[in-house]
Amino acid sequence: MILVGGLFFMRTVLAPAGADACYAGRRAVWAKWAGIATAVLLATGFYNFFLIHNLAKAGGDELPSTYHMLFGIKFLLALLVMFLVAILAGKTTAAERFRGQMPRWLNIAWLASIVIIVLAAVLRTLHS
Ligand code: HEM
Repeated sequence: MILVGGLFFMRTVLAPAGADACYAGRRAVWAKWAGIATAVLLATGFYNFFLIHNLAKAGGDELPSTYHMLFGIKFLLALLVMFLVAILAGKTTAAERFRGQMPRWLNIAWLASIVIIVLAAVLRTLHS
């Protein structure tokens, strides 16, 4: 919610006013929260995955291969979103270069986020 909501607000409300408007001089604050959200997503995401995997196994079932494929795509897209959010909030020269094309990267991150949420909804239907 924090990552995707932050992305949406930045892309829709702030970015049209220019890259500097996105952080209003408080980039480090967003970078900290984005880092926390990323760590929590990775921890809870893996926990969720292994829990669902083990529950299916305990019930004498395996998760279908479609589940693994869609989970893999969701995971890779999540890494992309996490990378883009981090680099756009970074303080290196590479980060500056990314911020030079803020609307483009925000659009990509936003699109990937929508696909992630749709995939999550589909994944939920693939096990009991
Ligand atoms: C931008 C990053 C991410 C977003 C926006 C996101 C979003 C979501 C949402 C909305 C759900 C549905 C929750 C529910 O059913 O109540 C979900 C489920 C899940 N997510 Fe993520 N997620 C992200 C990253 C990750 C990562 C990095 C992992 C793995 C390390 C992960 C693993 C999972 C798993 C295993 C489920 C359960 C799917 C199922 O019901 O079978 N997610 N995610």
